[in-house]
Amino acid sequence: MTTTPARPSDRPAGVPEPSVDVGGYVDLDRGLIDRTIFRDDVLYRQELRRVFAPSWLFLAHESQFAKPGDFFTTYMGEDPVIVTMGRDRKLRAFLNACRHRGMRVCRADAGATKAFTCSYHGWAYDTSGKLINVPNGEDYPAHFEQEKWGLVEVAQLDTYKGLVFATWNPEAPPLREALGGLGWYLDAMLDRDPEGTEVVGGVHKWVLEGNWKLAAEQFASDWYHVNISHASALMVMSPTGKGPKTEIVQTPGRQYADPLGHGHGFPTHPKSRFDDRVVHGWYDYEALRERLGDARVEGPMTTGHGTVFPNFSYLPVNGSIRVWHPRGLDRMEVWAWTLVDRSMPDEVKDAQRIYNLRTFGPSGIFEQDDGENWSEVQATAHGFMAGSMTLNYQMGLGLEGEDGVHPGTTGHLYSDGAARGFYTRWRDLMNTPAWHEKAAGQVTEKDTP
Ligand code: FES
Ligand SMILES: [Fe+2]
Repeated sequence: MTTTPARPSDRPAGVPEPSVDVGGYVDLDRGLIDRTIFRDDVLYRQELRRVFAPSWLFLAHESQFAKPGDFFTTYMGEDPVIVTMGRDRKLRAFLNACRHRGMRVCRADAGATKAFTCSYHGWAYDTSGKLINVPNGEDYPAHFEQEKWGLVEVAQLDTYKGLVFATWNPEAPPLREALGGLGWYLDAMLDRDPEGTEVVGGVHKWVLEGNWKLAAEQFASDWYHVNISHASALMVMSPTGKGPKTEIVQTPGRQYADPLGHGHGFPTHPKSRFDDRVVHGWYDYEALRERLGDARVEGPMTTGHGTVFPNFSYLPVNGSIRVWHPRGLDRMEVWAWTLVDRSMPDEVKDAQRIYNLRTFGPSGIFEQDDGENWSEVQATAHGFMAGSMTLNYQMGLGLEGEDGVHPGTTGHLYSDGAARGFYTRWRDLMNTPAWHEKAAGQVTEKDTP
């Protein structure tokens, strides 16, 4: 067997970037976080390198790829990627960057193709990433090895019940392991239907001023804001017309905090159900109880939200799944899909899509409130005094444990528990050299935990 020498881009190399020990910024035993983590450029670069590059990141839904050649372009952190189905029907993901000068080789959002041809000098790659055409090939030297200049492929790609994830990290544990105990909670959205799920209505994309962690953390943890930030929206939706207080404020519930940084908070009450009447009417709740168990049907299946660390979030009640793509320190790009059960008749799928748009679409009545909060928070982060404050993440501290109903560690619904879990994972990754730093010999003694 012959081994091919590593391509220059098999690992990120080059000049080592500075790394900061973030231990001093997050004191999670006491529930304290320094705002520096939302406003510092060095920390942002370190996140791309040590949080995004080594983690499993959400790419797309399997239903976006029906036949060989179908592709979808997205991002992993700030890295542009192409996800495509090869002739062997296998899904692959590549850096969307030409090996010649780095041009994006695919500039469409989605489509079907036989090859990705760079619009700069015409290098062309097939759907397995292989470089198949180099114009003026005769002008390259004899030692030019075309087979070594294919697109840079992710180290691992896998799916979990329709969701496609990938990582650049060859040492990352398998996806299922990386999801930890969140699977039980995620399945409340992904496993309602023996036929599985699909996405409908395309992808909505919008830009928000705000650090990506604000959104990811909130979806893992924050039910606290619901009664206040969404008061007007809840009033509109209130079945009694009395406003949000009676129906929402006293809601019991739990919040799950996974040791791997994931989280899911959800109310638990007997009337827990899908808000949209058409969707609610279509579900056979008895069958759901049999399939998923009472605890899931009465809790994580409906209102509430969760985050798969670092930047994928979901809302089971309306089928919203979304990624918070980082766009620099102060900005995120939200990409959101509507997820539906495959067995739903078209009119139910459509009702779910419209309900999702009305609530959590780019101009949805809830989404607008959330975006406003994150932008406003970010706007005050760059002042020296305001940006150096310690923030309080103490809600629910010491109140977490096993409740015998919901697996893993859960706490009160109104808690910062999953946010503390999110930042514990963030801190650990930020303080650990990633595989590429070790491979490039960029690890100093001080870096080694
Ligand atoms: S940058 Fe792609 S062919 Fe030159
Ligand atoms: Fe919200």
